[in-house]
Amino acid sequence: MNRVLIIGSGISGLTCAIETAKRGGTAVLVSPYPSERSQSVMAAGGINAVLAGCEEGDSVELHISETIKSGCDIAGTGTVTALCEDAPALIEWLESIGVVFTREAGGGVARRAFGGQSRKRTVYAGASTGKQIVTALVQEARRWECEGRIVRRLGLTFHSALINDGVCFGALFYCEKTKSLVPLYADATVFAVGGQNCLFGKTTGSALCDGYAAGRLFLQGAKLKNLEFIQYHPTTIETPQKRMLITEGARGDGGRLYYVDGGGKRVYFMEDMYGERGNLMPRDIVSKCIYDAPLQVYLDISFLGEKKIKENLKEVYDLCGEYLGLDVTKESIPVAPSVHFFMGGLAVDIRHRTNIKNMYAVGECASIYHGANRLGGNSLLAAVHGGKAAARSICEDGSPVPSPGFDSYIREQSDGLNRRLESQSPFSAVYIRNSLSQIMNEDLGILRTGEKLKEGLESVDYYLSVCDKIIYDSEVSPYQGYSLSAMLTLGRAILACAERRRETRGAHIRADYPLRSDAYEKCSVISYSGGKYDITYESEDEICL
Ligand code: FUM
Repeated sequence: MNRVLIIGSGISGLTCAIETAKRGGTAVLVSPYPSERSQSVMAAGGINAVLAGCEEGDSVELHISETIKSGCDIAGTGTVTALCEDAPALIEWLESIGVVFTREAGGGVARRAFGGQSRKRTVYAGASTGKQIVTALVQEARRWECEGRIVRRLGLTFHSALINDGVCFGALFYCEKTKSLVPLYADATVFAVGGQNCLFGKTTGSALCDGYAAGRLFLQGAKLKNLEFIQYHPTTIETPQKRMLITEGARGDGGRLYYVDGGGKRVYFMEDMYGERGNLMPRDIVSKCIYDAPLQVYLDISFLGEKKIKENLKEVYDLCGEYLGLDVTKESIPVAPSVHFFMGGLAVDIRHRTNIKNMYAVGECASIYHGANRLGGNSLLAAVHGGKAAARSICEDGSPVPSPGFDSYIREQSDGLNRRLESQSPFSAVYIRNSLSQIMNEDLGILRTGEKLKEGLESVDYYLSVCDKIIYDSEVSPYQGYSLSAMLTLGRAILACAERRRETRGAHIRADYPLRSDAYEKCSVISYSGGKYDITYESEDEICL
């Protein structure tokens, strides 16, 4: 394999490109916007690794078991072991390319406590760890760009994969500048497109991550996994455009959650329920407790003092000042849970291969390692580990297959873009998108019921039946239109998986099935064929795509 097409240029895409170049291949890194605008830059709190000089009692085995426990026992032992064992070497590599992690007074890498972990093992760069990692990776990628081993293509938005007989030969992109479709052929194609935050409207994630790619690939035959598991970050604040994350690092450094009872007394409910480490229980537990709290919940970090806050949590200080007009060195932050991360996505095996030959997925769009609830600090780790693992697999996966012609497919898709611009229906694309977000938010919250999920399915089915006939405002990009049926299909698949999992596990509560059930101690895998959705349950280590 020598020409690798990587779609998405955040941390997992950049890592995959660098590793491909290092191994002698050429990576074509495609994204609509530069890496600096990827969702990765929003990752705040840190990356987990058990390093030399770790806290007493810590070990890679403990990192593995806490990852599996947080994932509510459905993440694979084999996949999680590979992830956690790789972590120390990955931190070393990131430092070698210039990531400056926060240091202790003695010079060693500092570690903070993070949710669901009994030891301090989250390495961080203030509260902007993602941004620091992206900066270093961009710099490292430039070295390879100079040698022609990484080629950047900006301004291209994914349209569809070029698949023939179960084999992927590259992808088609929509170019906003030329208003046309552009094919890029490759020996291997890697999806690094992030999660599906925008499908849910206002979340902590990027508005550019809307799930279109996952939906389109699903329609083209890719299997999706664990879609029903959506992580709600416990501590976010409301801003006009989106929800902003108040990093778990704030609680890791000592922040306390409370509400004020009728008598004006602070109730530290997490500590009352779970003891000293209550504020740092896994995210599913903290989010559910905040959801259940009778009154507005606040996070207090003021007692950490101005010096520590400005050193370690400067972004939290700035964010609350800018959006809430709050001085967190003196006042508490009103917080609420919000959609933050998707444990579900493209089904991949331990080598990051999807069920379509020569197609891979990495980062948040790949479903692996996190089970029903991701351990905080494991997403950056999975992005770097996955990027490298995919590049390794690609370089080992045999020789390129000659590409068949896709001319008639490309012609058909191009004609489709124009035809859609002329069609008619009662709804605009924007109206359907907003309705979809509303359905997803209302029916796929922390508390779910089978009845609401079925109602959601009916509504999405209705929009699917009319979305091919909608009116496009002439100033709206054709992307807004052609992405719609794939996004609705993805929404439908998420609702179907959530309805079918009749138990309470991980990030959500099923009010009608409040207990965990052994019958569901597996990952859901959903596939699409001829208009039919098929759900099976498989164990992550045995997923044989
Ligand atoms: O709270 C946070 O900083 C989020 C980290 C993560 O999602 O891993």
